[in-house]
Amino acid sequence: MVDSRVPSPITNSQMIVMKLLSFSLLSFLFTTAIATETPKEPLITRIAFGSCANQSAPQPIWDAINEFDPQVFVWLGDNIYGDIRKPNRVIGKERTIGPWRNSPRFVPSSEEEMKSRYAKAKANPGYSRLQRKTRVIGTWDDHDYGLNDAGKEFDRKVINQKLMLDFLDEPLDSPRRKQAGVYASYTFGPPNKNVKVIVLDTRYHRDPLRSDGSFLGDTQWEWLEKELRGPRSEITIIGSSVQVISNLSATTGPLFYMESWGRFPKERKRLFQLIEATKRNGVVFISGDVHFGEITRYDCAVGYPLYDVTSSGLVQSVEKVFPRPLRVIVRLLFWYTPTTMRVINGNCRYRSCTYGQQNFGAISIDWNANPATIRLEVRDVNGVTVLGTNVSLSTLQPQGLKDSTTKGKSQRYCTLEVDLPGTVRYRLAVLIYFIISVLAMALLGLIVGTVLTITACVHKCKLD
Ligand SMILES: *[C@@H]1O[C@H](CO)[C@@H](O)[C@H](O)[C@H]1NC(C)=O
Ligand SMILES: *[C@@H]1O[C@H](CO)[C@@H](O)[C@H](O)[C@H]1NC(C)=O
Ligand SMILES: *[C@@H]1O[C@H](CO)[C@@H](O)[C@H](O)[C@H]1NC(C)=O
Repeated sequence: MVDSRVPSPITNSQMIVMKLLSFSLLSFLFTTAIATETPKEPLITRIAFGSCANQSAPQPIWDAINEFDPQVFVWLGDNIYGDIRKPNRVIGKERTIGPWRNSPRFVPSSEEEMKSRYAKAKANPGYSRLQRKTRVIGTWDDHDYGLNDAGKEFDRKVINQKLMLDFLDEPLDSPRRKQAGVYASYTFGPPNKNVKVIVLDTRYHRDPLRSDGSFLGDTQWEWLEKELRGPRSEITIIGSSVQVISNLSATTGPLFYMESWGRFPKERKRLFQLIEATKRNGVVFISGDVHFGEITRYDCAVGYPLYDVTSSGLVQSVEKVFPRPLRVIVRLLFWYTPTTMRVINGNCRYRSCTYGQQNFGAISIDWNANPATIRLEVRDVNGVTVLGTNVSLSTLQPQGLKDSTTKGKSQRYCTLEVDLPGTVRYRLAVLIYFIISVLAMALLGLIVGTVLTITACVHKCKLD
């Protein structure tokens, strides 16, 4: 609903003064015909994004983001951790995990607590510095929506929407404050070099997990269709809090499942069909949520490759949860888990082409190249590229795949994870269950051995 053409770091009042000055100057020097020309929108060449920022932990990543100097920064959710996580307890009065669970592991915070957490996040010096010079936009995910894995049933969504929009400095008269959900769209850049950024709300209207119901809700779907049918843009970036292309759950289940568009296959198909039906070219997805970085690509959805650049988290990362010596095991497991959509190339820090430490997403557009190219990256806390791929804008349209000389190679981005042969698809689960059974058997062997030794000894001792 919100469509703003934003004049970059310059404040509105400065812009008005500049507009007035240039207008009067031009009218003075030239004829009024020339004077009616509007000032040029600045060209957008650098966009950064990120997700999962724990407001209570140090946030060194902002230095790297400020260094990258983006013109636009997109929050992709878990912008704060608003809910309260209770400790993991299998026994005791409040049991939050295990078969005897009697208490939820996450509970929502009060409004006051949410406000104070947002205030803390906003006061972070690195983030404040970014906010002063960069246009900051975004959406939310579950923890800032207010509750882990929550959807449309969550009853604090109205008040939390207000708090989230306050955090983003949304104007008080913005239509976004009156709609149900925080979805929005923006257009940046001069004509013929337009970058449209759409941020979706994947929480407010979402049916429960495993319901195979709606992901966006009717109103947001209608809005999205209008946005995609609307004025053309060279590049359309669609921000979704959860991953669009990667369906990790298909290869980590039955061990564990993640939230993603893949969990709502009908809705995901609808999204792809909408992009195709509206003939929207140049679409690139950005996403967060999973606490690691990954670039994926799907070639068989809309007639051109759909990329999904996942950056997560700015602060919360999978490797941080493990002691340093165990982190290499996490990387090995990433490498061992099968994937069909992940972009694996020479630009990755690790063999798996995932990145499990603090990171942010960086999109650089080279409009001078012919055809224009987009560099999609995930960068580490020092601003160094840990995942990256260059995409020519000309490949992000229906004839792109046909012209591509790598057609044969790109076929591998067409197999869904669920269509992998069982021996490959479940190899992580098989490995983990195998390790658990070996350990269990070793433990059993140890117990039996000890018992036998003791009985033998007791027997022998008696005989003696
Ligand atoms: C956020 O960081 C604080 C301080 O390091 C930590 O105590 C807390 O558990 C973290 N929150 C989450 C959700 O991990
Ligand atoms: C993603 O994986 C889940 C879990 O295996 C499965 O139910 C779902 O159908 C998959 N989605 C797609 C689009 O393949
Ligand atoms: C990708 O583009 C960047 C500039 O945007 C360039 O420095 C780099 O060499 C390119 N990489 C590849 C693999 O083409």
